[in-house]
Amino acid sequence: MRRLISALVAAAMLVAPAFVSAVPVDDRDAFITELLSKMTIEEKIGQMHLPAYPQLVTGGAYNANIDSLAEHGLLGGIFNILDVEGIRHLQELAVEKSRMGIPLLVGLDVVHGYNTIFPIPLALASSWDIPAIERTARIAAKEASAGGINWTFSPMVDISRDPRWGRQAEGAGEDPFLGAAIARAMVRGYQGDNLSAKDNILACVKHFALYGAAEGGRDYNTVDMSRQQMFNVYFPPYKAAVEAGAGSVMSSFNLVDGLHATANKWLLTDVLRRMWGFKGFVVTDYASIAEMGVHGFGSLERNSVAALEAGTDMDMTSDAFIRCLKNAVDRGEVTMERINTSVRRILEAKYDLGLFRDPYKYSSGDRDARKANAADAAFARRMAAETFVLLKNQNSLLPLKPTGKIALIGPLADTGANMVGTWSVTAHGNYPSLLDAMREAVGNRGEVIYAKGANLYSDAHIEAGATPGKFAMRDSRSEEAMLAEAVAVAKQADVIVAALGEGAEGSGEGSSRARLTLPDTQHRLLEALLATGKPVVMLNFSGRATVLTWESEHVPAIMNVWFGGSEAAGAIADVVFGKVSPSGKLTVSMPYCEGQIPVYYNHLVTGRPKRPDDGRYAAYTSNYFEIPNHPLYPFGYGLSYTTFEYSDLRLSSDRMDADGSITASVKVTNTGNRRADEVVQLYLHDVERSLAPPVQELKGFERISLDAGESRTVTFTIDPSMLKFYNYNLDYVAEPGEFEVMTGGCSDRCLKASFNYME
Ligand code: BGC
Repeated sequence: MRRLISALVAAAMLVAPAFVSAVPVDDRDAFITELLSKMTIEEKIGQMHLPAYPQLVTGGAYNANIDSLAEHGLLGGIFNILDVEGIRHLQELAVEKSRMGIPLLVGLDVVHGYNTIFPIPLALASSWDIPAIERTARIAAKEASAGGINWTFSPMVDISRDPRWGRQAEGAGEDPFLGAAIARAMVRGYQGDNLSAKDNILACVKHFALYGAAEGGRDYNTVDMSRQQMFNVYFPPYKAAVEAGAGSVMSSFNLVDGLHATANKWLLTDVLRRMWGFKGFVVTDYASIAEMGVHGFGSLERNSVAALEAGTDMDMTSDAFIRCLKNAVDRGEVTMERINTSVRRILEAKYDLGLFRDPYKYSSGDRDARKANAADAAFARRMAAETFVLLKNQNSLLPLKPTGKIALIGPLADTGANMVGTWSVTAHGNYPSLLDAMREAVGNRGEVIYAKGANLYSDAHIEAGATPGKFAMRDSRSEEAMLAEAVAVAKQADVIVAALGEGAEGSGEGSSRARLTLPDTQHRLLEALLATGKPVVMLNFSGRATVLTWESEHVPAIMNVWFGGSEAAGAIADVVFGKVSPSGKLTVSMPYCEGQIPVYYNHLVTGRPKRPDDGRYAAYTSNYFEIPNHPLYPFGYGLSYTTFEYSDLRLSSDRMDADGSITASVKVTNTGNRRADEVVQLYLHDVERSLAPPVQELKGFERISLDAGESRTVTFTIDPSMLKFYNYNLDYVAEPGEFEVMTGGCSDRCLKASFNYME
C-alpha cells in the first residue's frame, strides 16, 4: 500500500497548484461540473476511497498513510476518528494543501447517541415512541457534529426474525411497518430539514440489504430469500429511509441472489435507484470488496469493477478502488463516465452538508454542544424508562417499595460500563451502575445490599468476547464462593432484585449465540436465589430476544431492560420503584426455545395449521411435539403497573371503495389505579388473496397516556394504500375481498371486526 500511495502522491504532484473555482458556489451542479472537469483520474478515484482511521477497528483495517492521502486529494473521507483536533488537522490538509481543496466526509457509527447515549436501537423500538426516537437522533447529531463528525452510519434498519443474530440489537425488530416508521424518524433526526445547518449530519441507511436474514443467525452468513419476501417484509424500512431523504446507503456483507450485495446491480441500481429514486451515494460495508474474494468471486480487480458497475460509489477500507479502478479504466473495463457519476454523488453530499462553504463547520472546536447536557440526560432517562418491557408481574410484586432490605444481586448489578450496550463507541465507561442508582433512589428509607453472585459466563473466553476491552469485569473467585456470598446476602433481604443477562457486547456485530437461555452460571445463581424463598424480581439485560421459558415459570416478576444507555441505571430505578410505569412492548417475539426460531407474529399459515395452538401435540398438523407454535412472549407484548381494557371496536363502514377510506375506533380504559402509557396497536389481515397472506400485519399504532379510570377512543384511518402488498409479479396492489381489523395492546390479544374492500 505504501508504494501505491507514493505513486499516487507523485502523480498528484505533477499537476498544477491549487484549483480555485470560477463558478459561484451557490450553483451546485455547475460548481460540481467545474470541479469534475479539473480533477485528475487519481483525484476522482481518491474521492471514492474511505479508509478507517486506526483509532477504532472492527475488522481487518488496512494501514493507510492518511495524512499524505488527504494532502494529495486522494481521500473522500475518513471514519472512526474521535478527536476533533485530529479531524480538523485532516480537514486542513485536504482543504488547504490538496490541489482541489475538497473537504472530507468524517464518518462514525453514531448508532444510539454520541455523548448522551440512548438505549440500543432494539430497546428504542420497544418504546414505539416515534417522536422521541427522532429526538434521540437529533441530540446525537447535535453532539456528534460538534465533535467533528458529519456522517453517521445509521440508521440500521435490517429486519430481524432471528435472535441468534447479535445485530438484532441494532435494529427495530421483526416488523416492516414499525421499522419503516423508525427509519424515517432517524433520518429526519440526523439530517433535519436542511443538511447544511451546522448541527445536522448525513445519515447512512444500512445494511442494504437483507443482512438480518443471515442463515442460522450466524453473523455475515449467507442469505437466500424470495423476491416477494424481500419486497413485502425486508425492504420497507430501507425504502422508507430513502424516501425520507437519507443521503447515503451502505450495502451489506451478505449475498443477495447468490451475488454479493455490494456487487448486485439489481439491488443497488434497479431497486435502489430506478424503483426508489435514491439520489445519494452507496458505500460498502467495511472491506466488502476485499471479502468478495474470500466468498469465491475472484480477484480484487474483478470485484472492484463488479462493485462499481453494480452501483457502489465508495469503497470502505478495502483499498480496492484506489488500487484497481485506474487500471480498469485504462483497460477499458470501466468508463470515465461511470467514475464521474460516483464522484459527483459524493461531491453532492459534501456540497449539501455545506462543506464547500465552510469545511470547518464541524471541527471548529468552539462549541460545547458535543458535551451531554442536563436536559438531554433527563430526556435519555425518560426515554430509557419507556423501553423496558415488563414480561411478568405476579401479584403485582413490582413496583417495589423503597423500604426495608433489598438485595441486588447479579453480574450486571454493579457495572455502569455495561449499561450502554453495543456500538457505544464514544462511551467513557463510568456511568452509574444499577447499585448506585438503587441506593440513591432508596436513600435512607431502606437499604440496598449487594453481591455479584456469578460471572457472566463460567467460560472466561466467552466472557472476554461478550465484554471486550474496558468492559471486562471478570471476578477471579470460584463460582461456589460467589454463590455462597450471594445466598448469604439474599437471606438477609425482604426482596431480591437479580440483575442478569448479557454483557454489553454479548449482542452486536459478530456476537451470534446458539443458546439464548441464561448462561449456566447465572442460571444456577437464579435457582439459588429462588430457593431462599424470598420474592425475586429478575431484570434481564439483553440486546435481543432471549429464551426465558424456565424463568417465566419460576420467577414471579421479570422485566427486560435491554441496554438502556448512559442514563439506564436511574431509569431502571425509576421503574423498579414505581416512579414510572413500564410501557415498552416487544418488537421481537421471544421464543420458547432456540428450535422454534424463526418465530414471528406476521407469519403465513400452513395447509395443516394446529388450532387451537395449545401446545398439545396433534399428529399430521403443523406443530412440535414439545412446545406450541406461538412464541413465549409475542410481538407487541408488554405489561404495565396498571391494566388497560379494550372495548367497542367500531368500523365506520363494513365496506371500503378503492377511492375511499374507513375508520376503526376502539375505546381504551385504564382500569387500574395509576396513570400510565399504553401502545394501542392496529393490525390487518387480508383473508383471501393471490399471494399467501400473513395472519396479521401491523398497520398503525398510537402511544397514549391515561389516568386511572380514564377512557379514550383511539381512531385509526384505514385506506386502500394500507391494504397493498407486492404480489407474485411484484406489482404493488390491493385485492378486493374481506379484511379483518384487529386492535389491542398486544398482537395476540385483539378485538376483531371486518370489512369488505371493493374495487
Ligand atoms: C459494520 C457496519 C459499520 C462499519 C463501520 C462494519 O463492520 O457492519 O455496521 O457501520 O463496520 O464501522
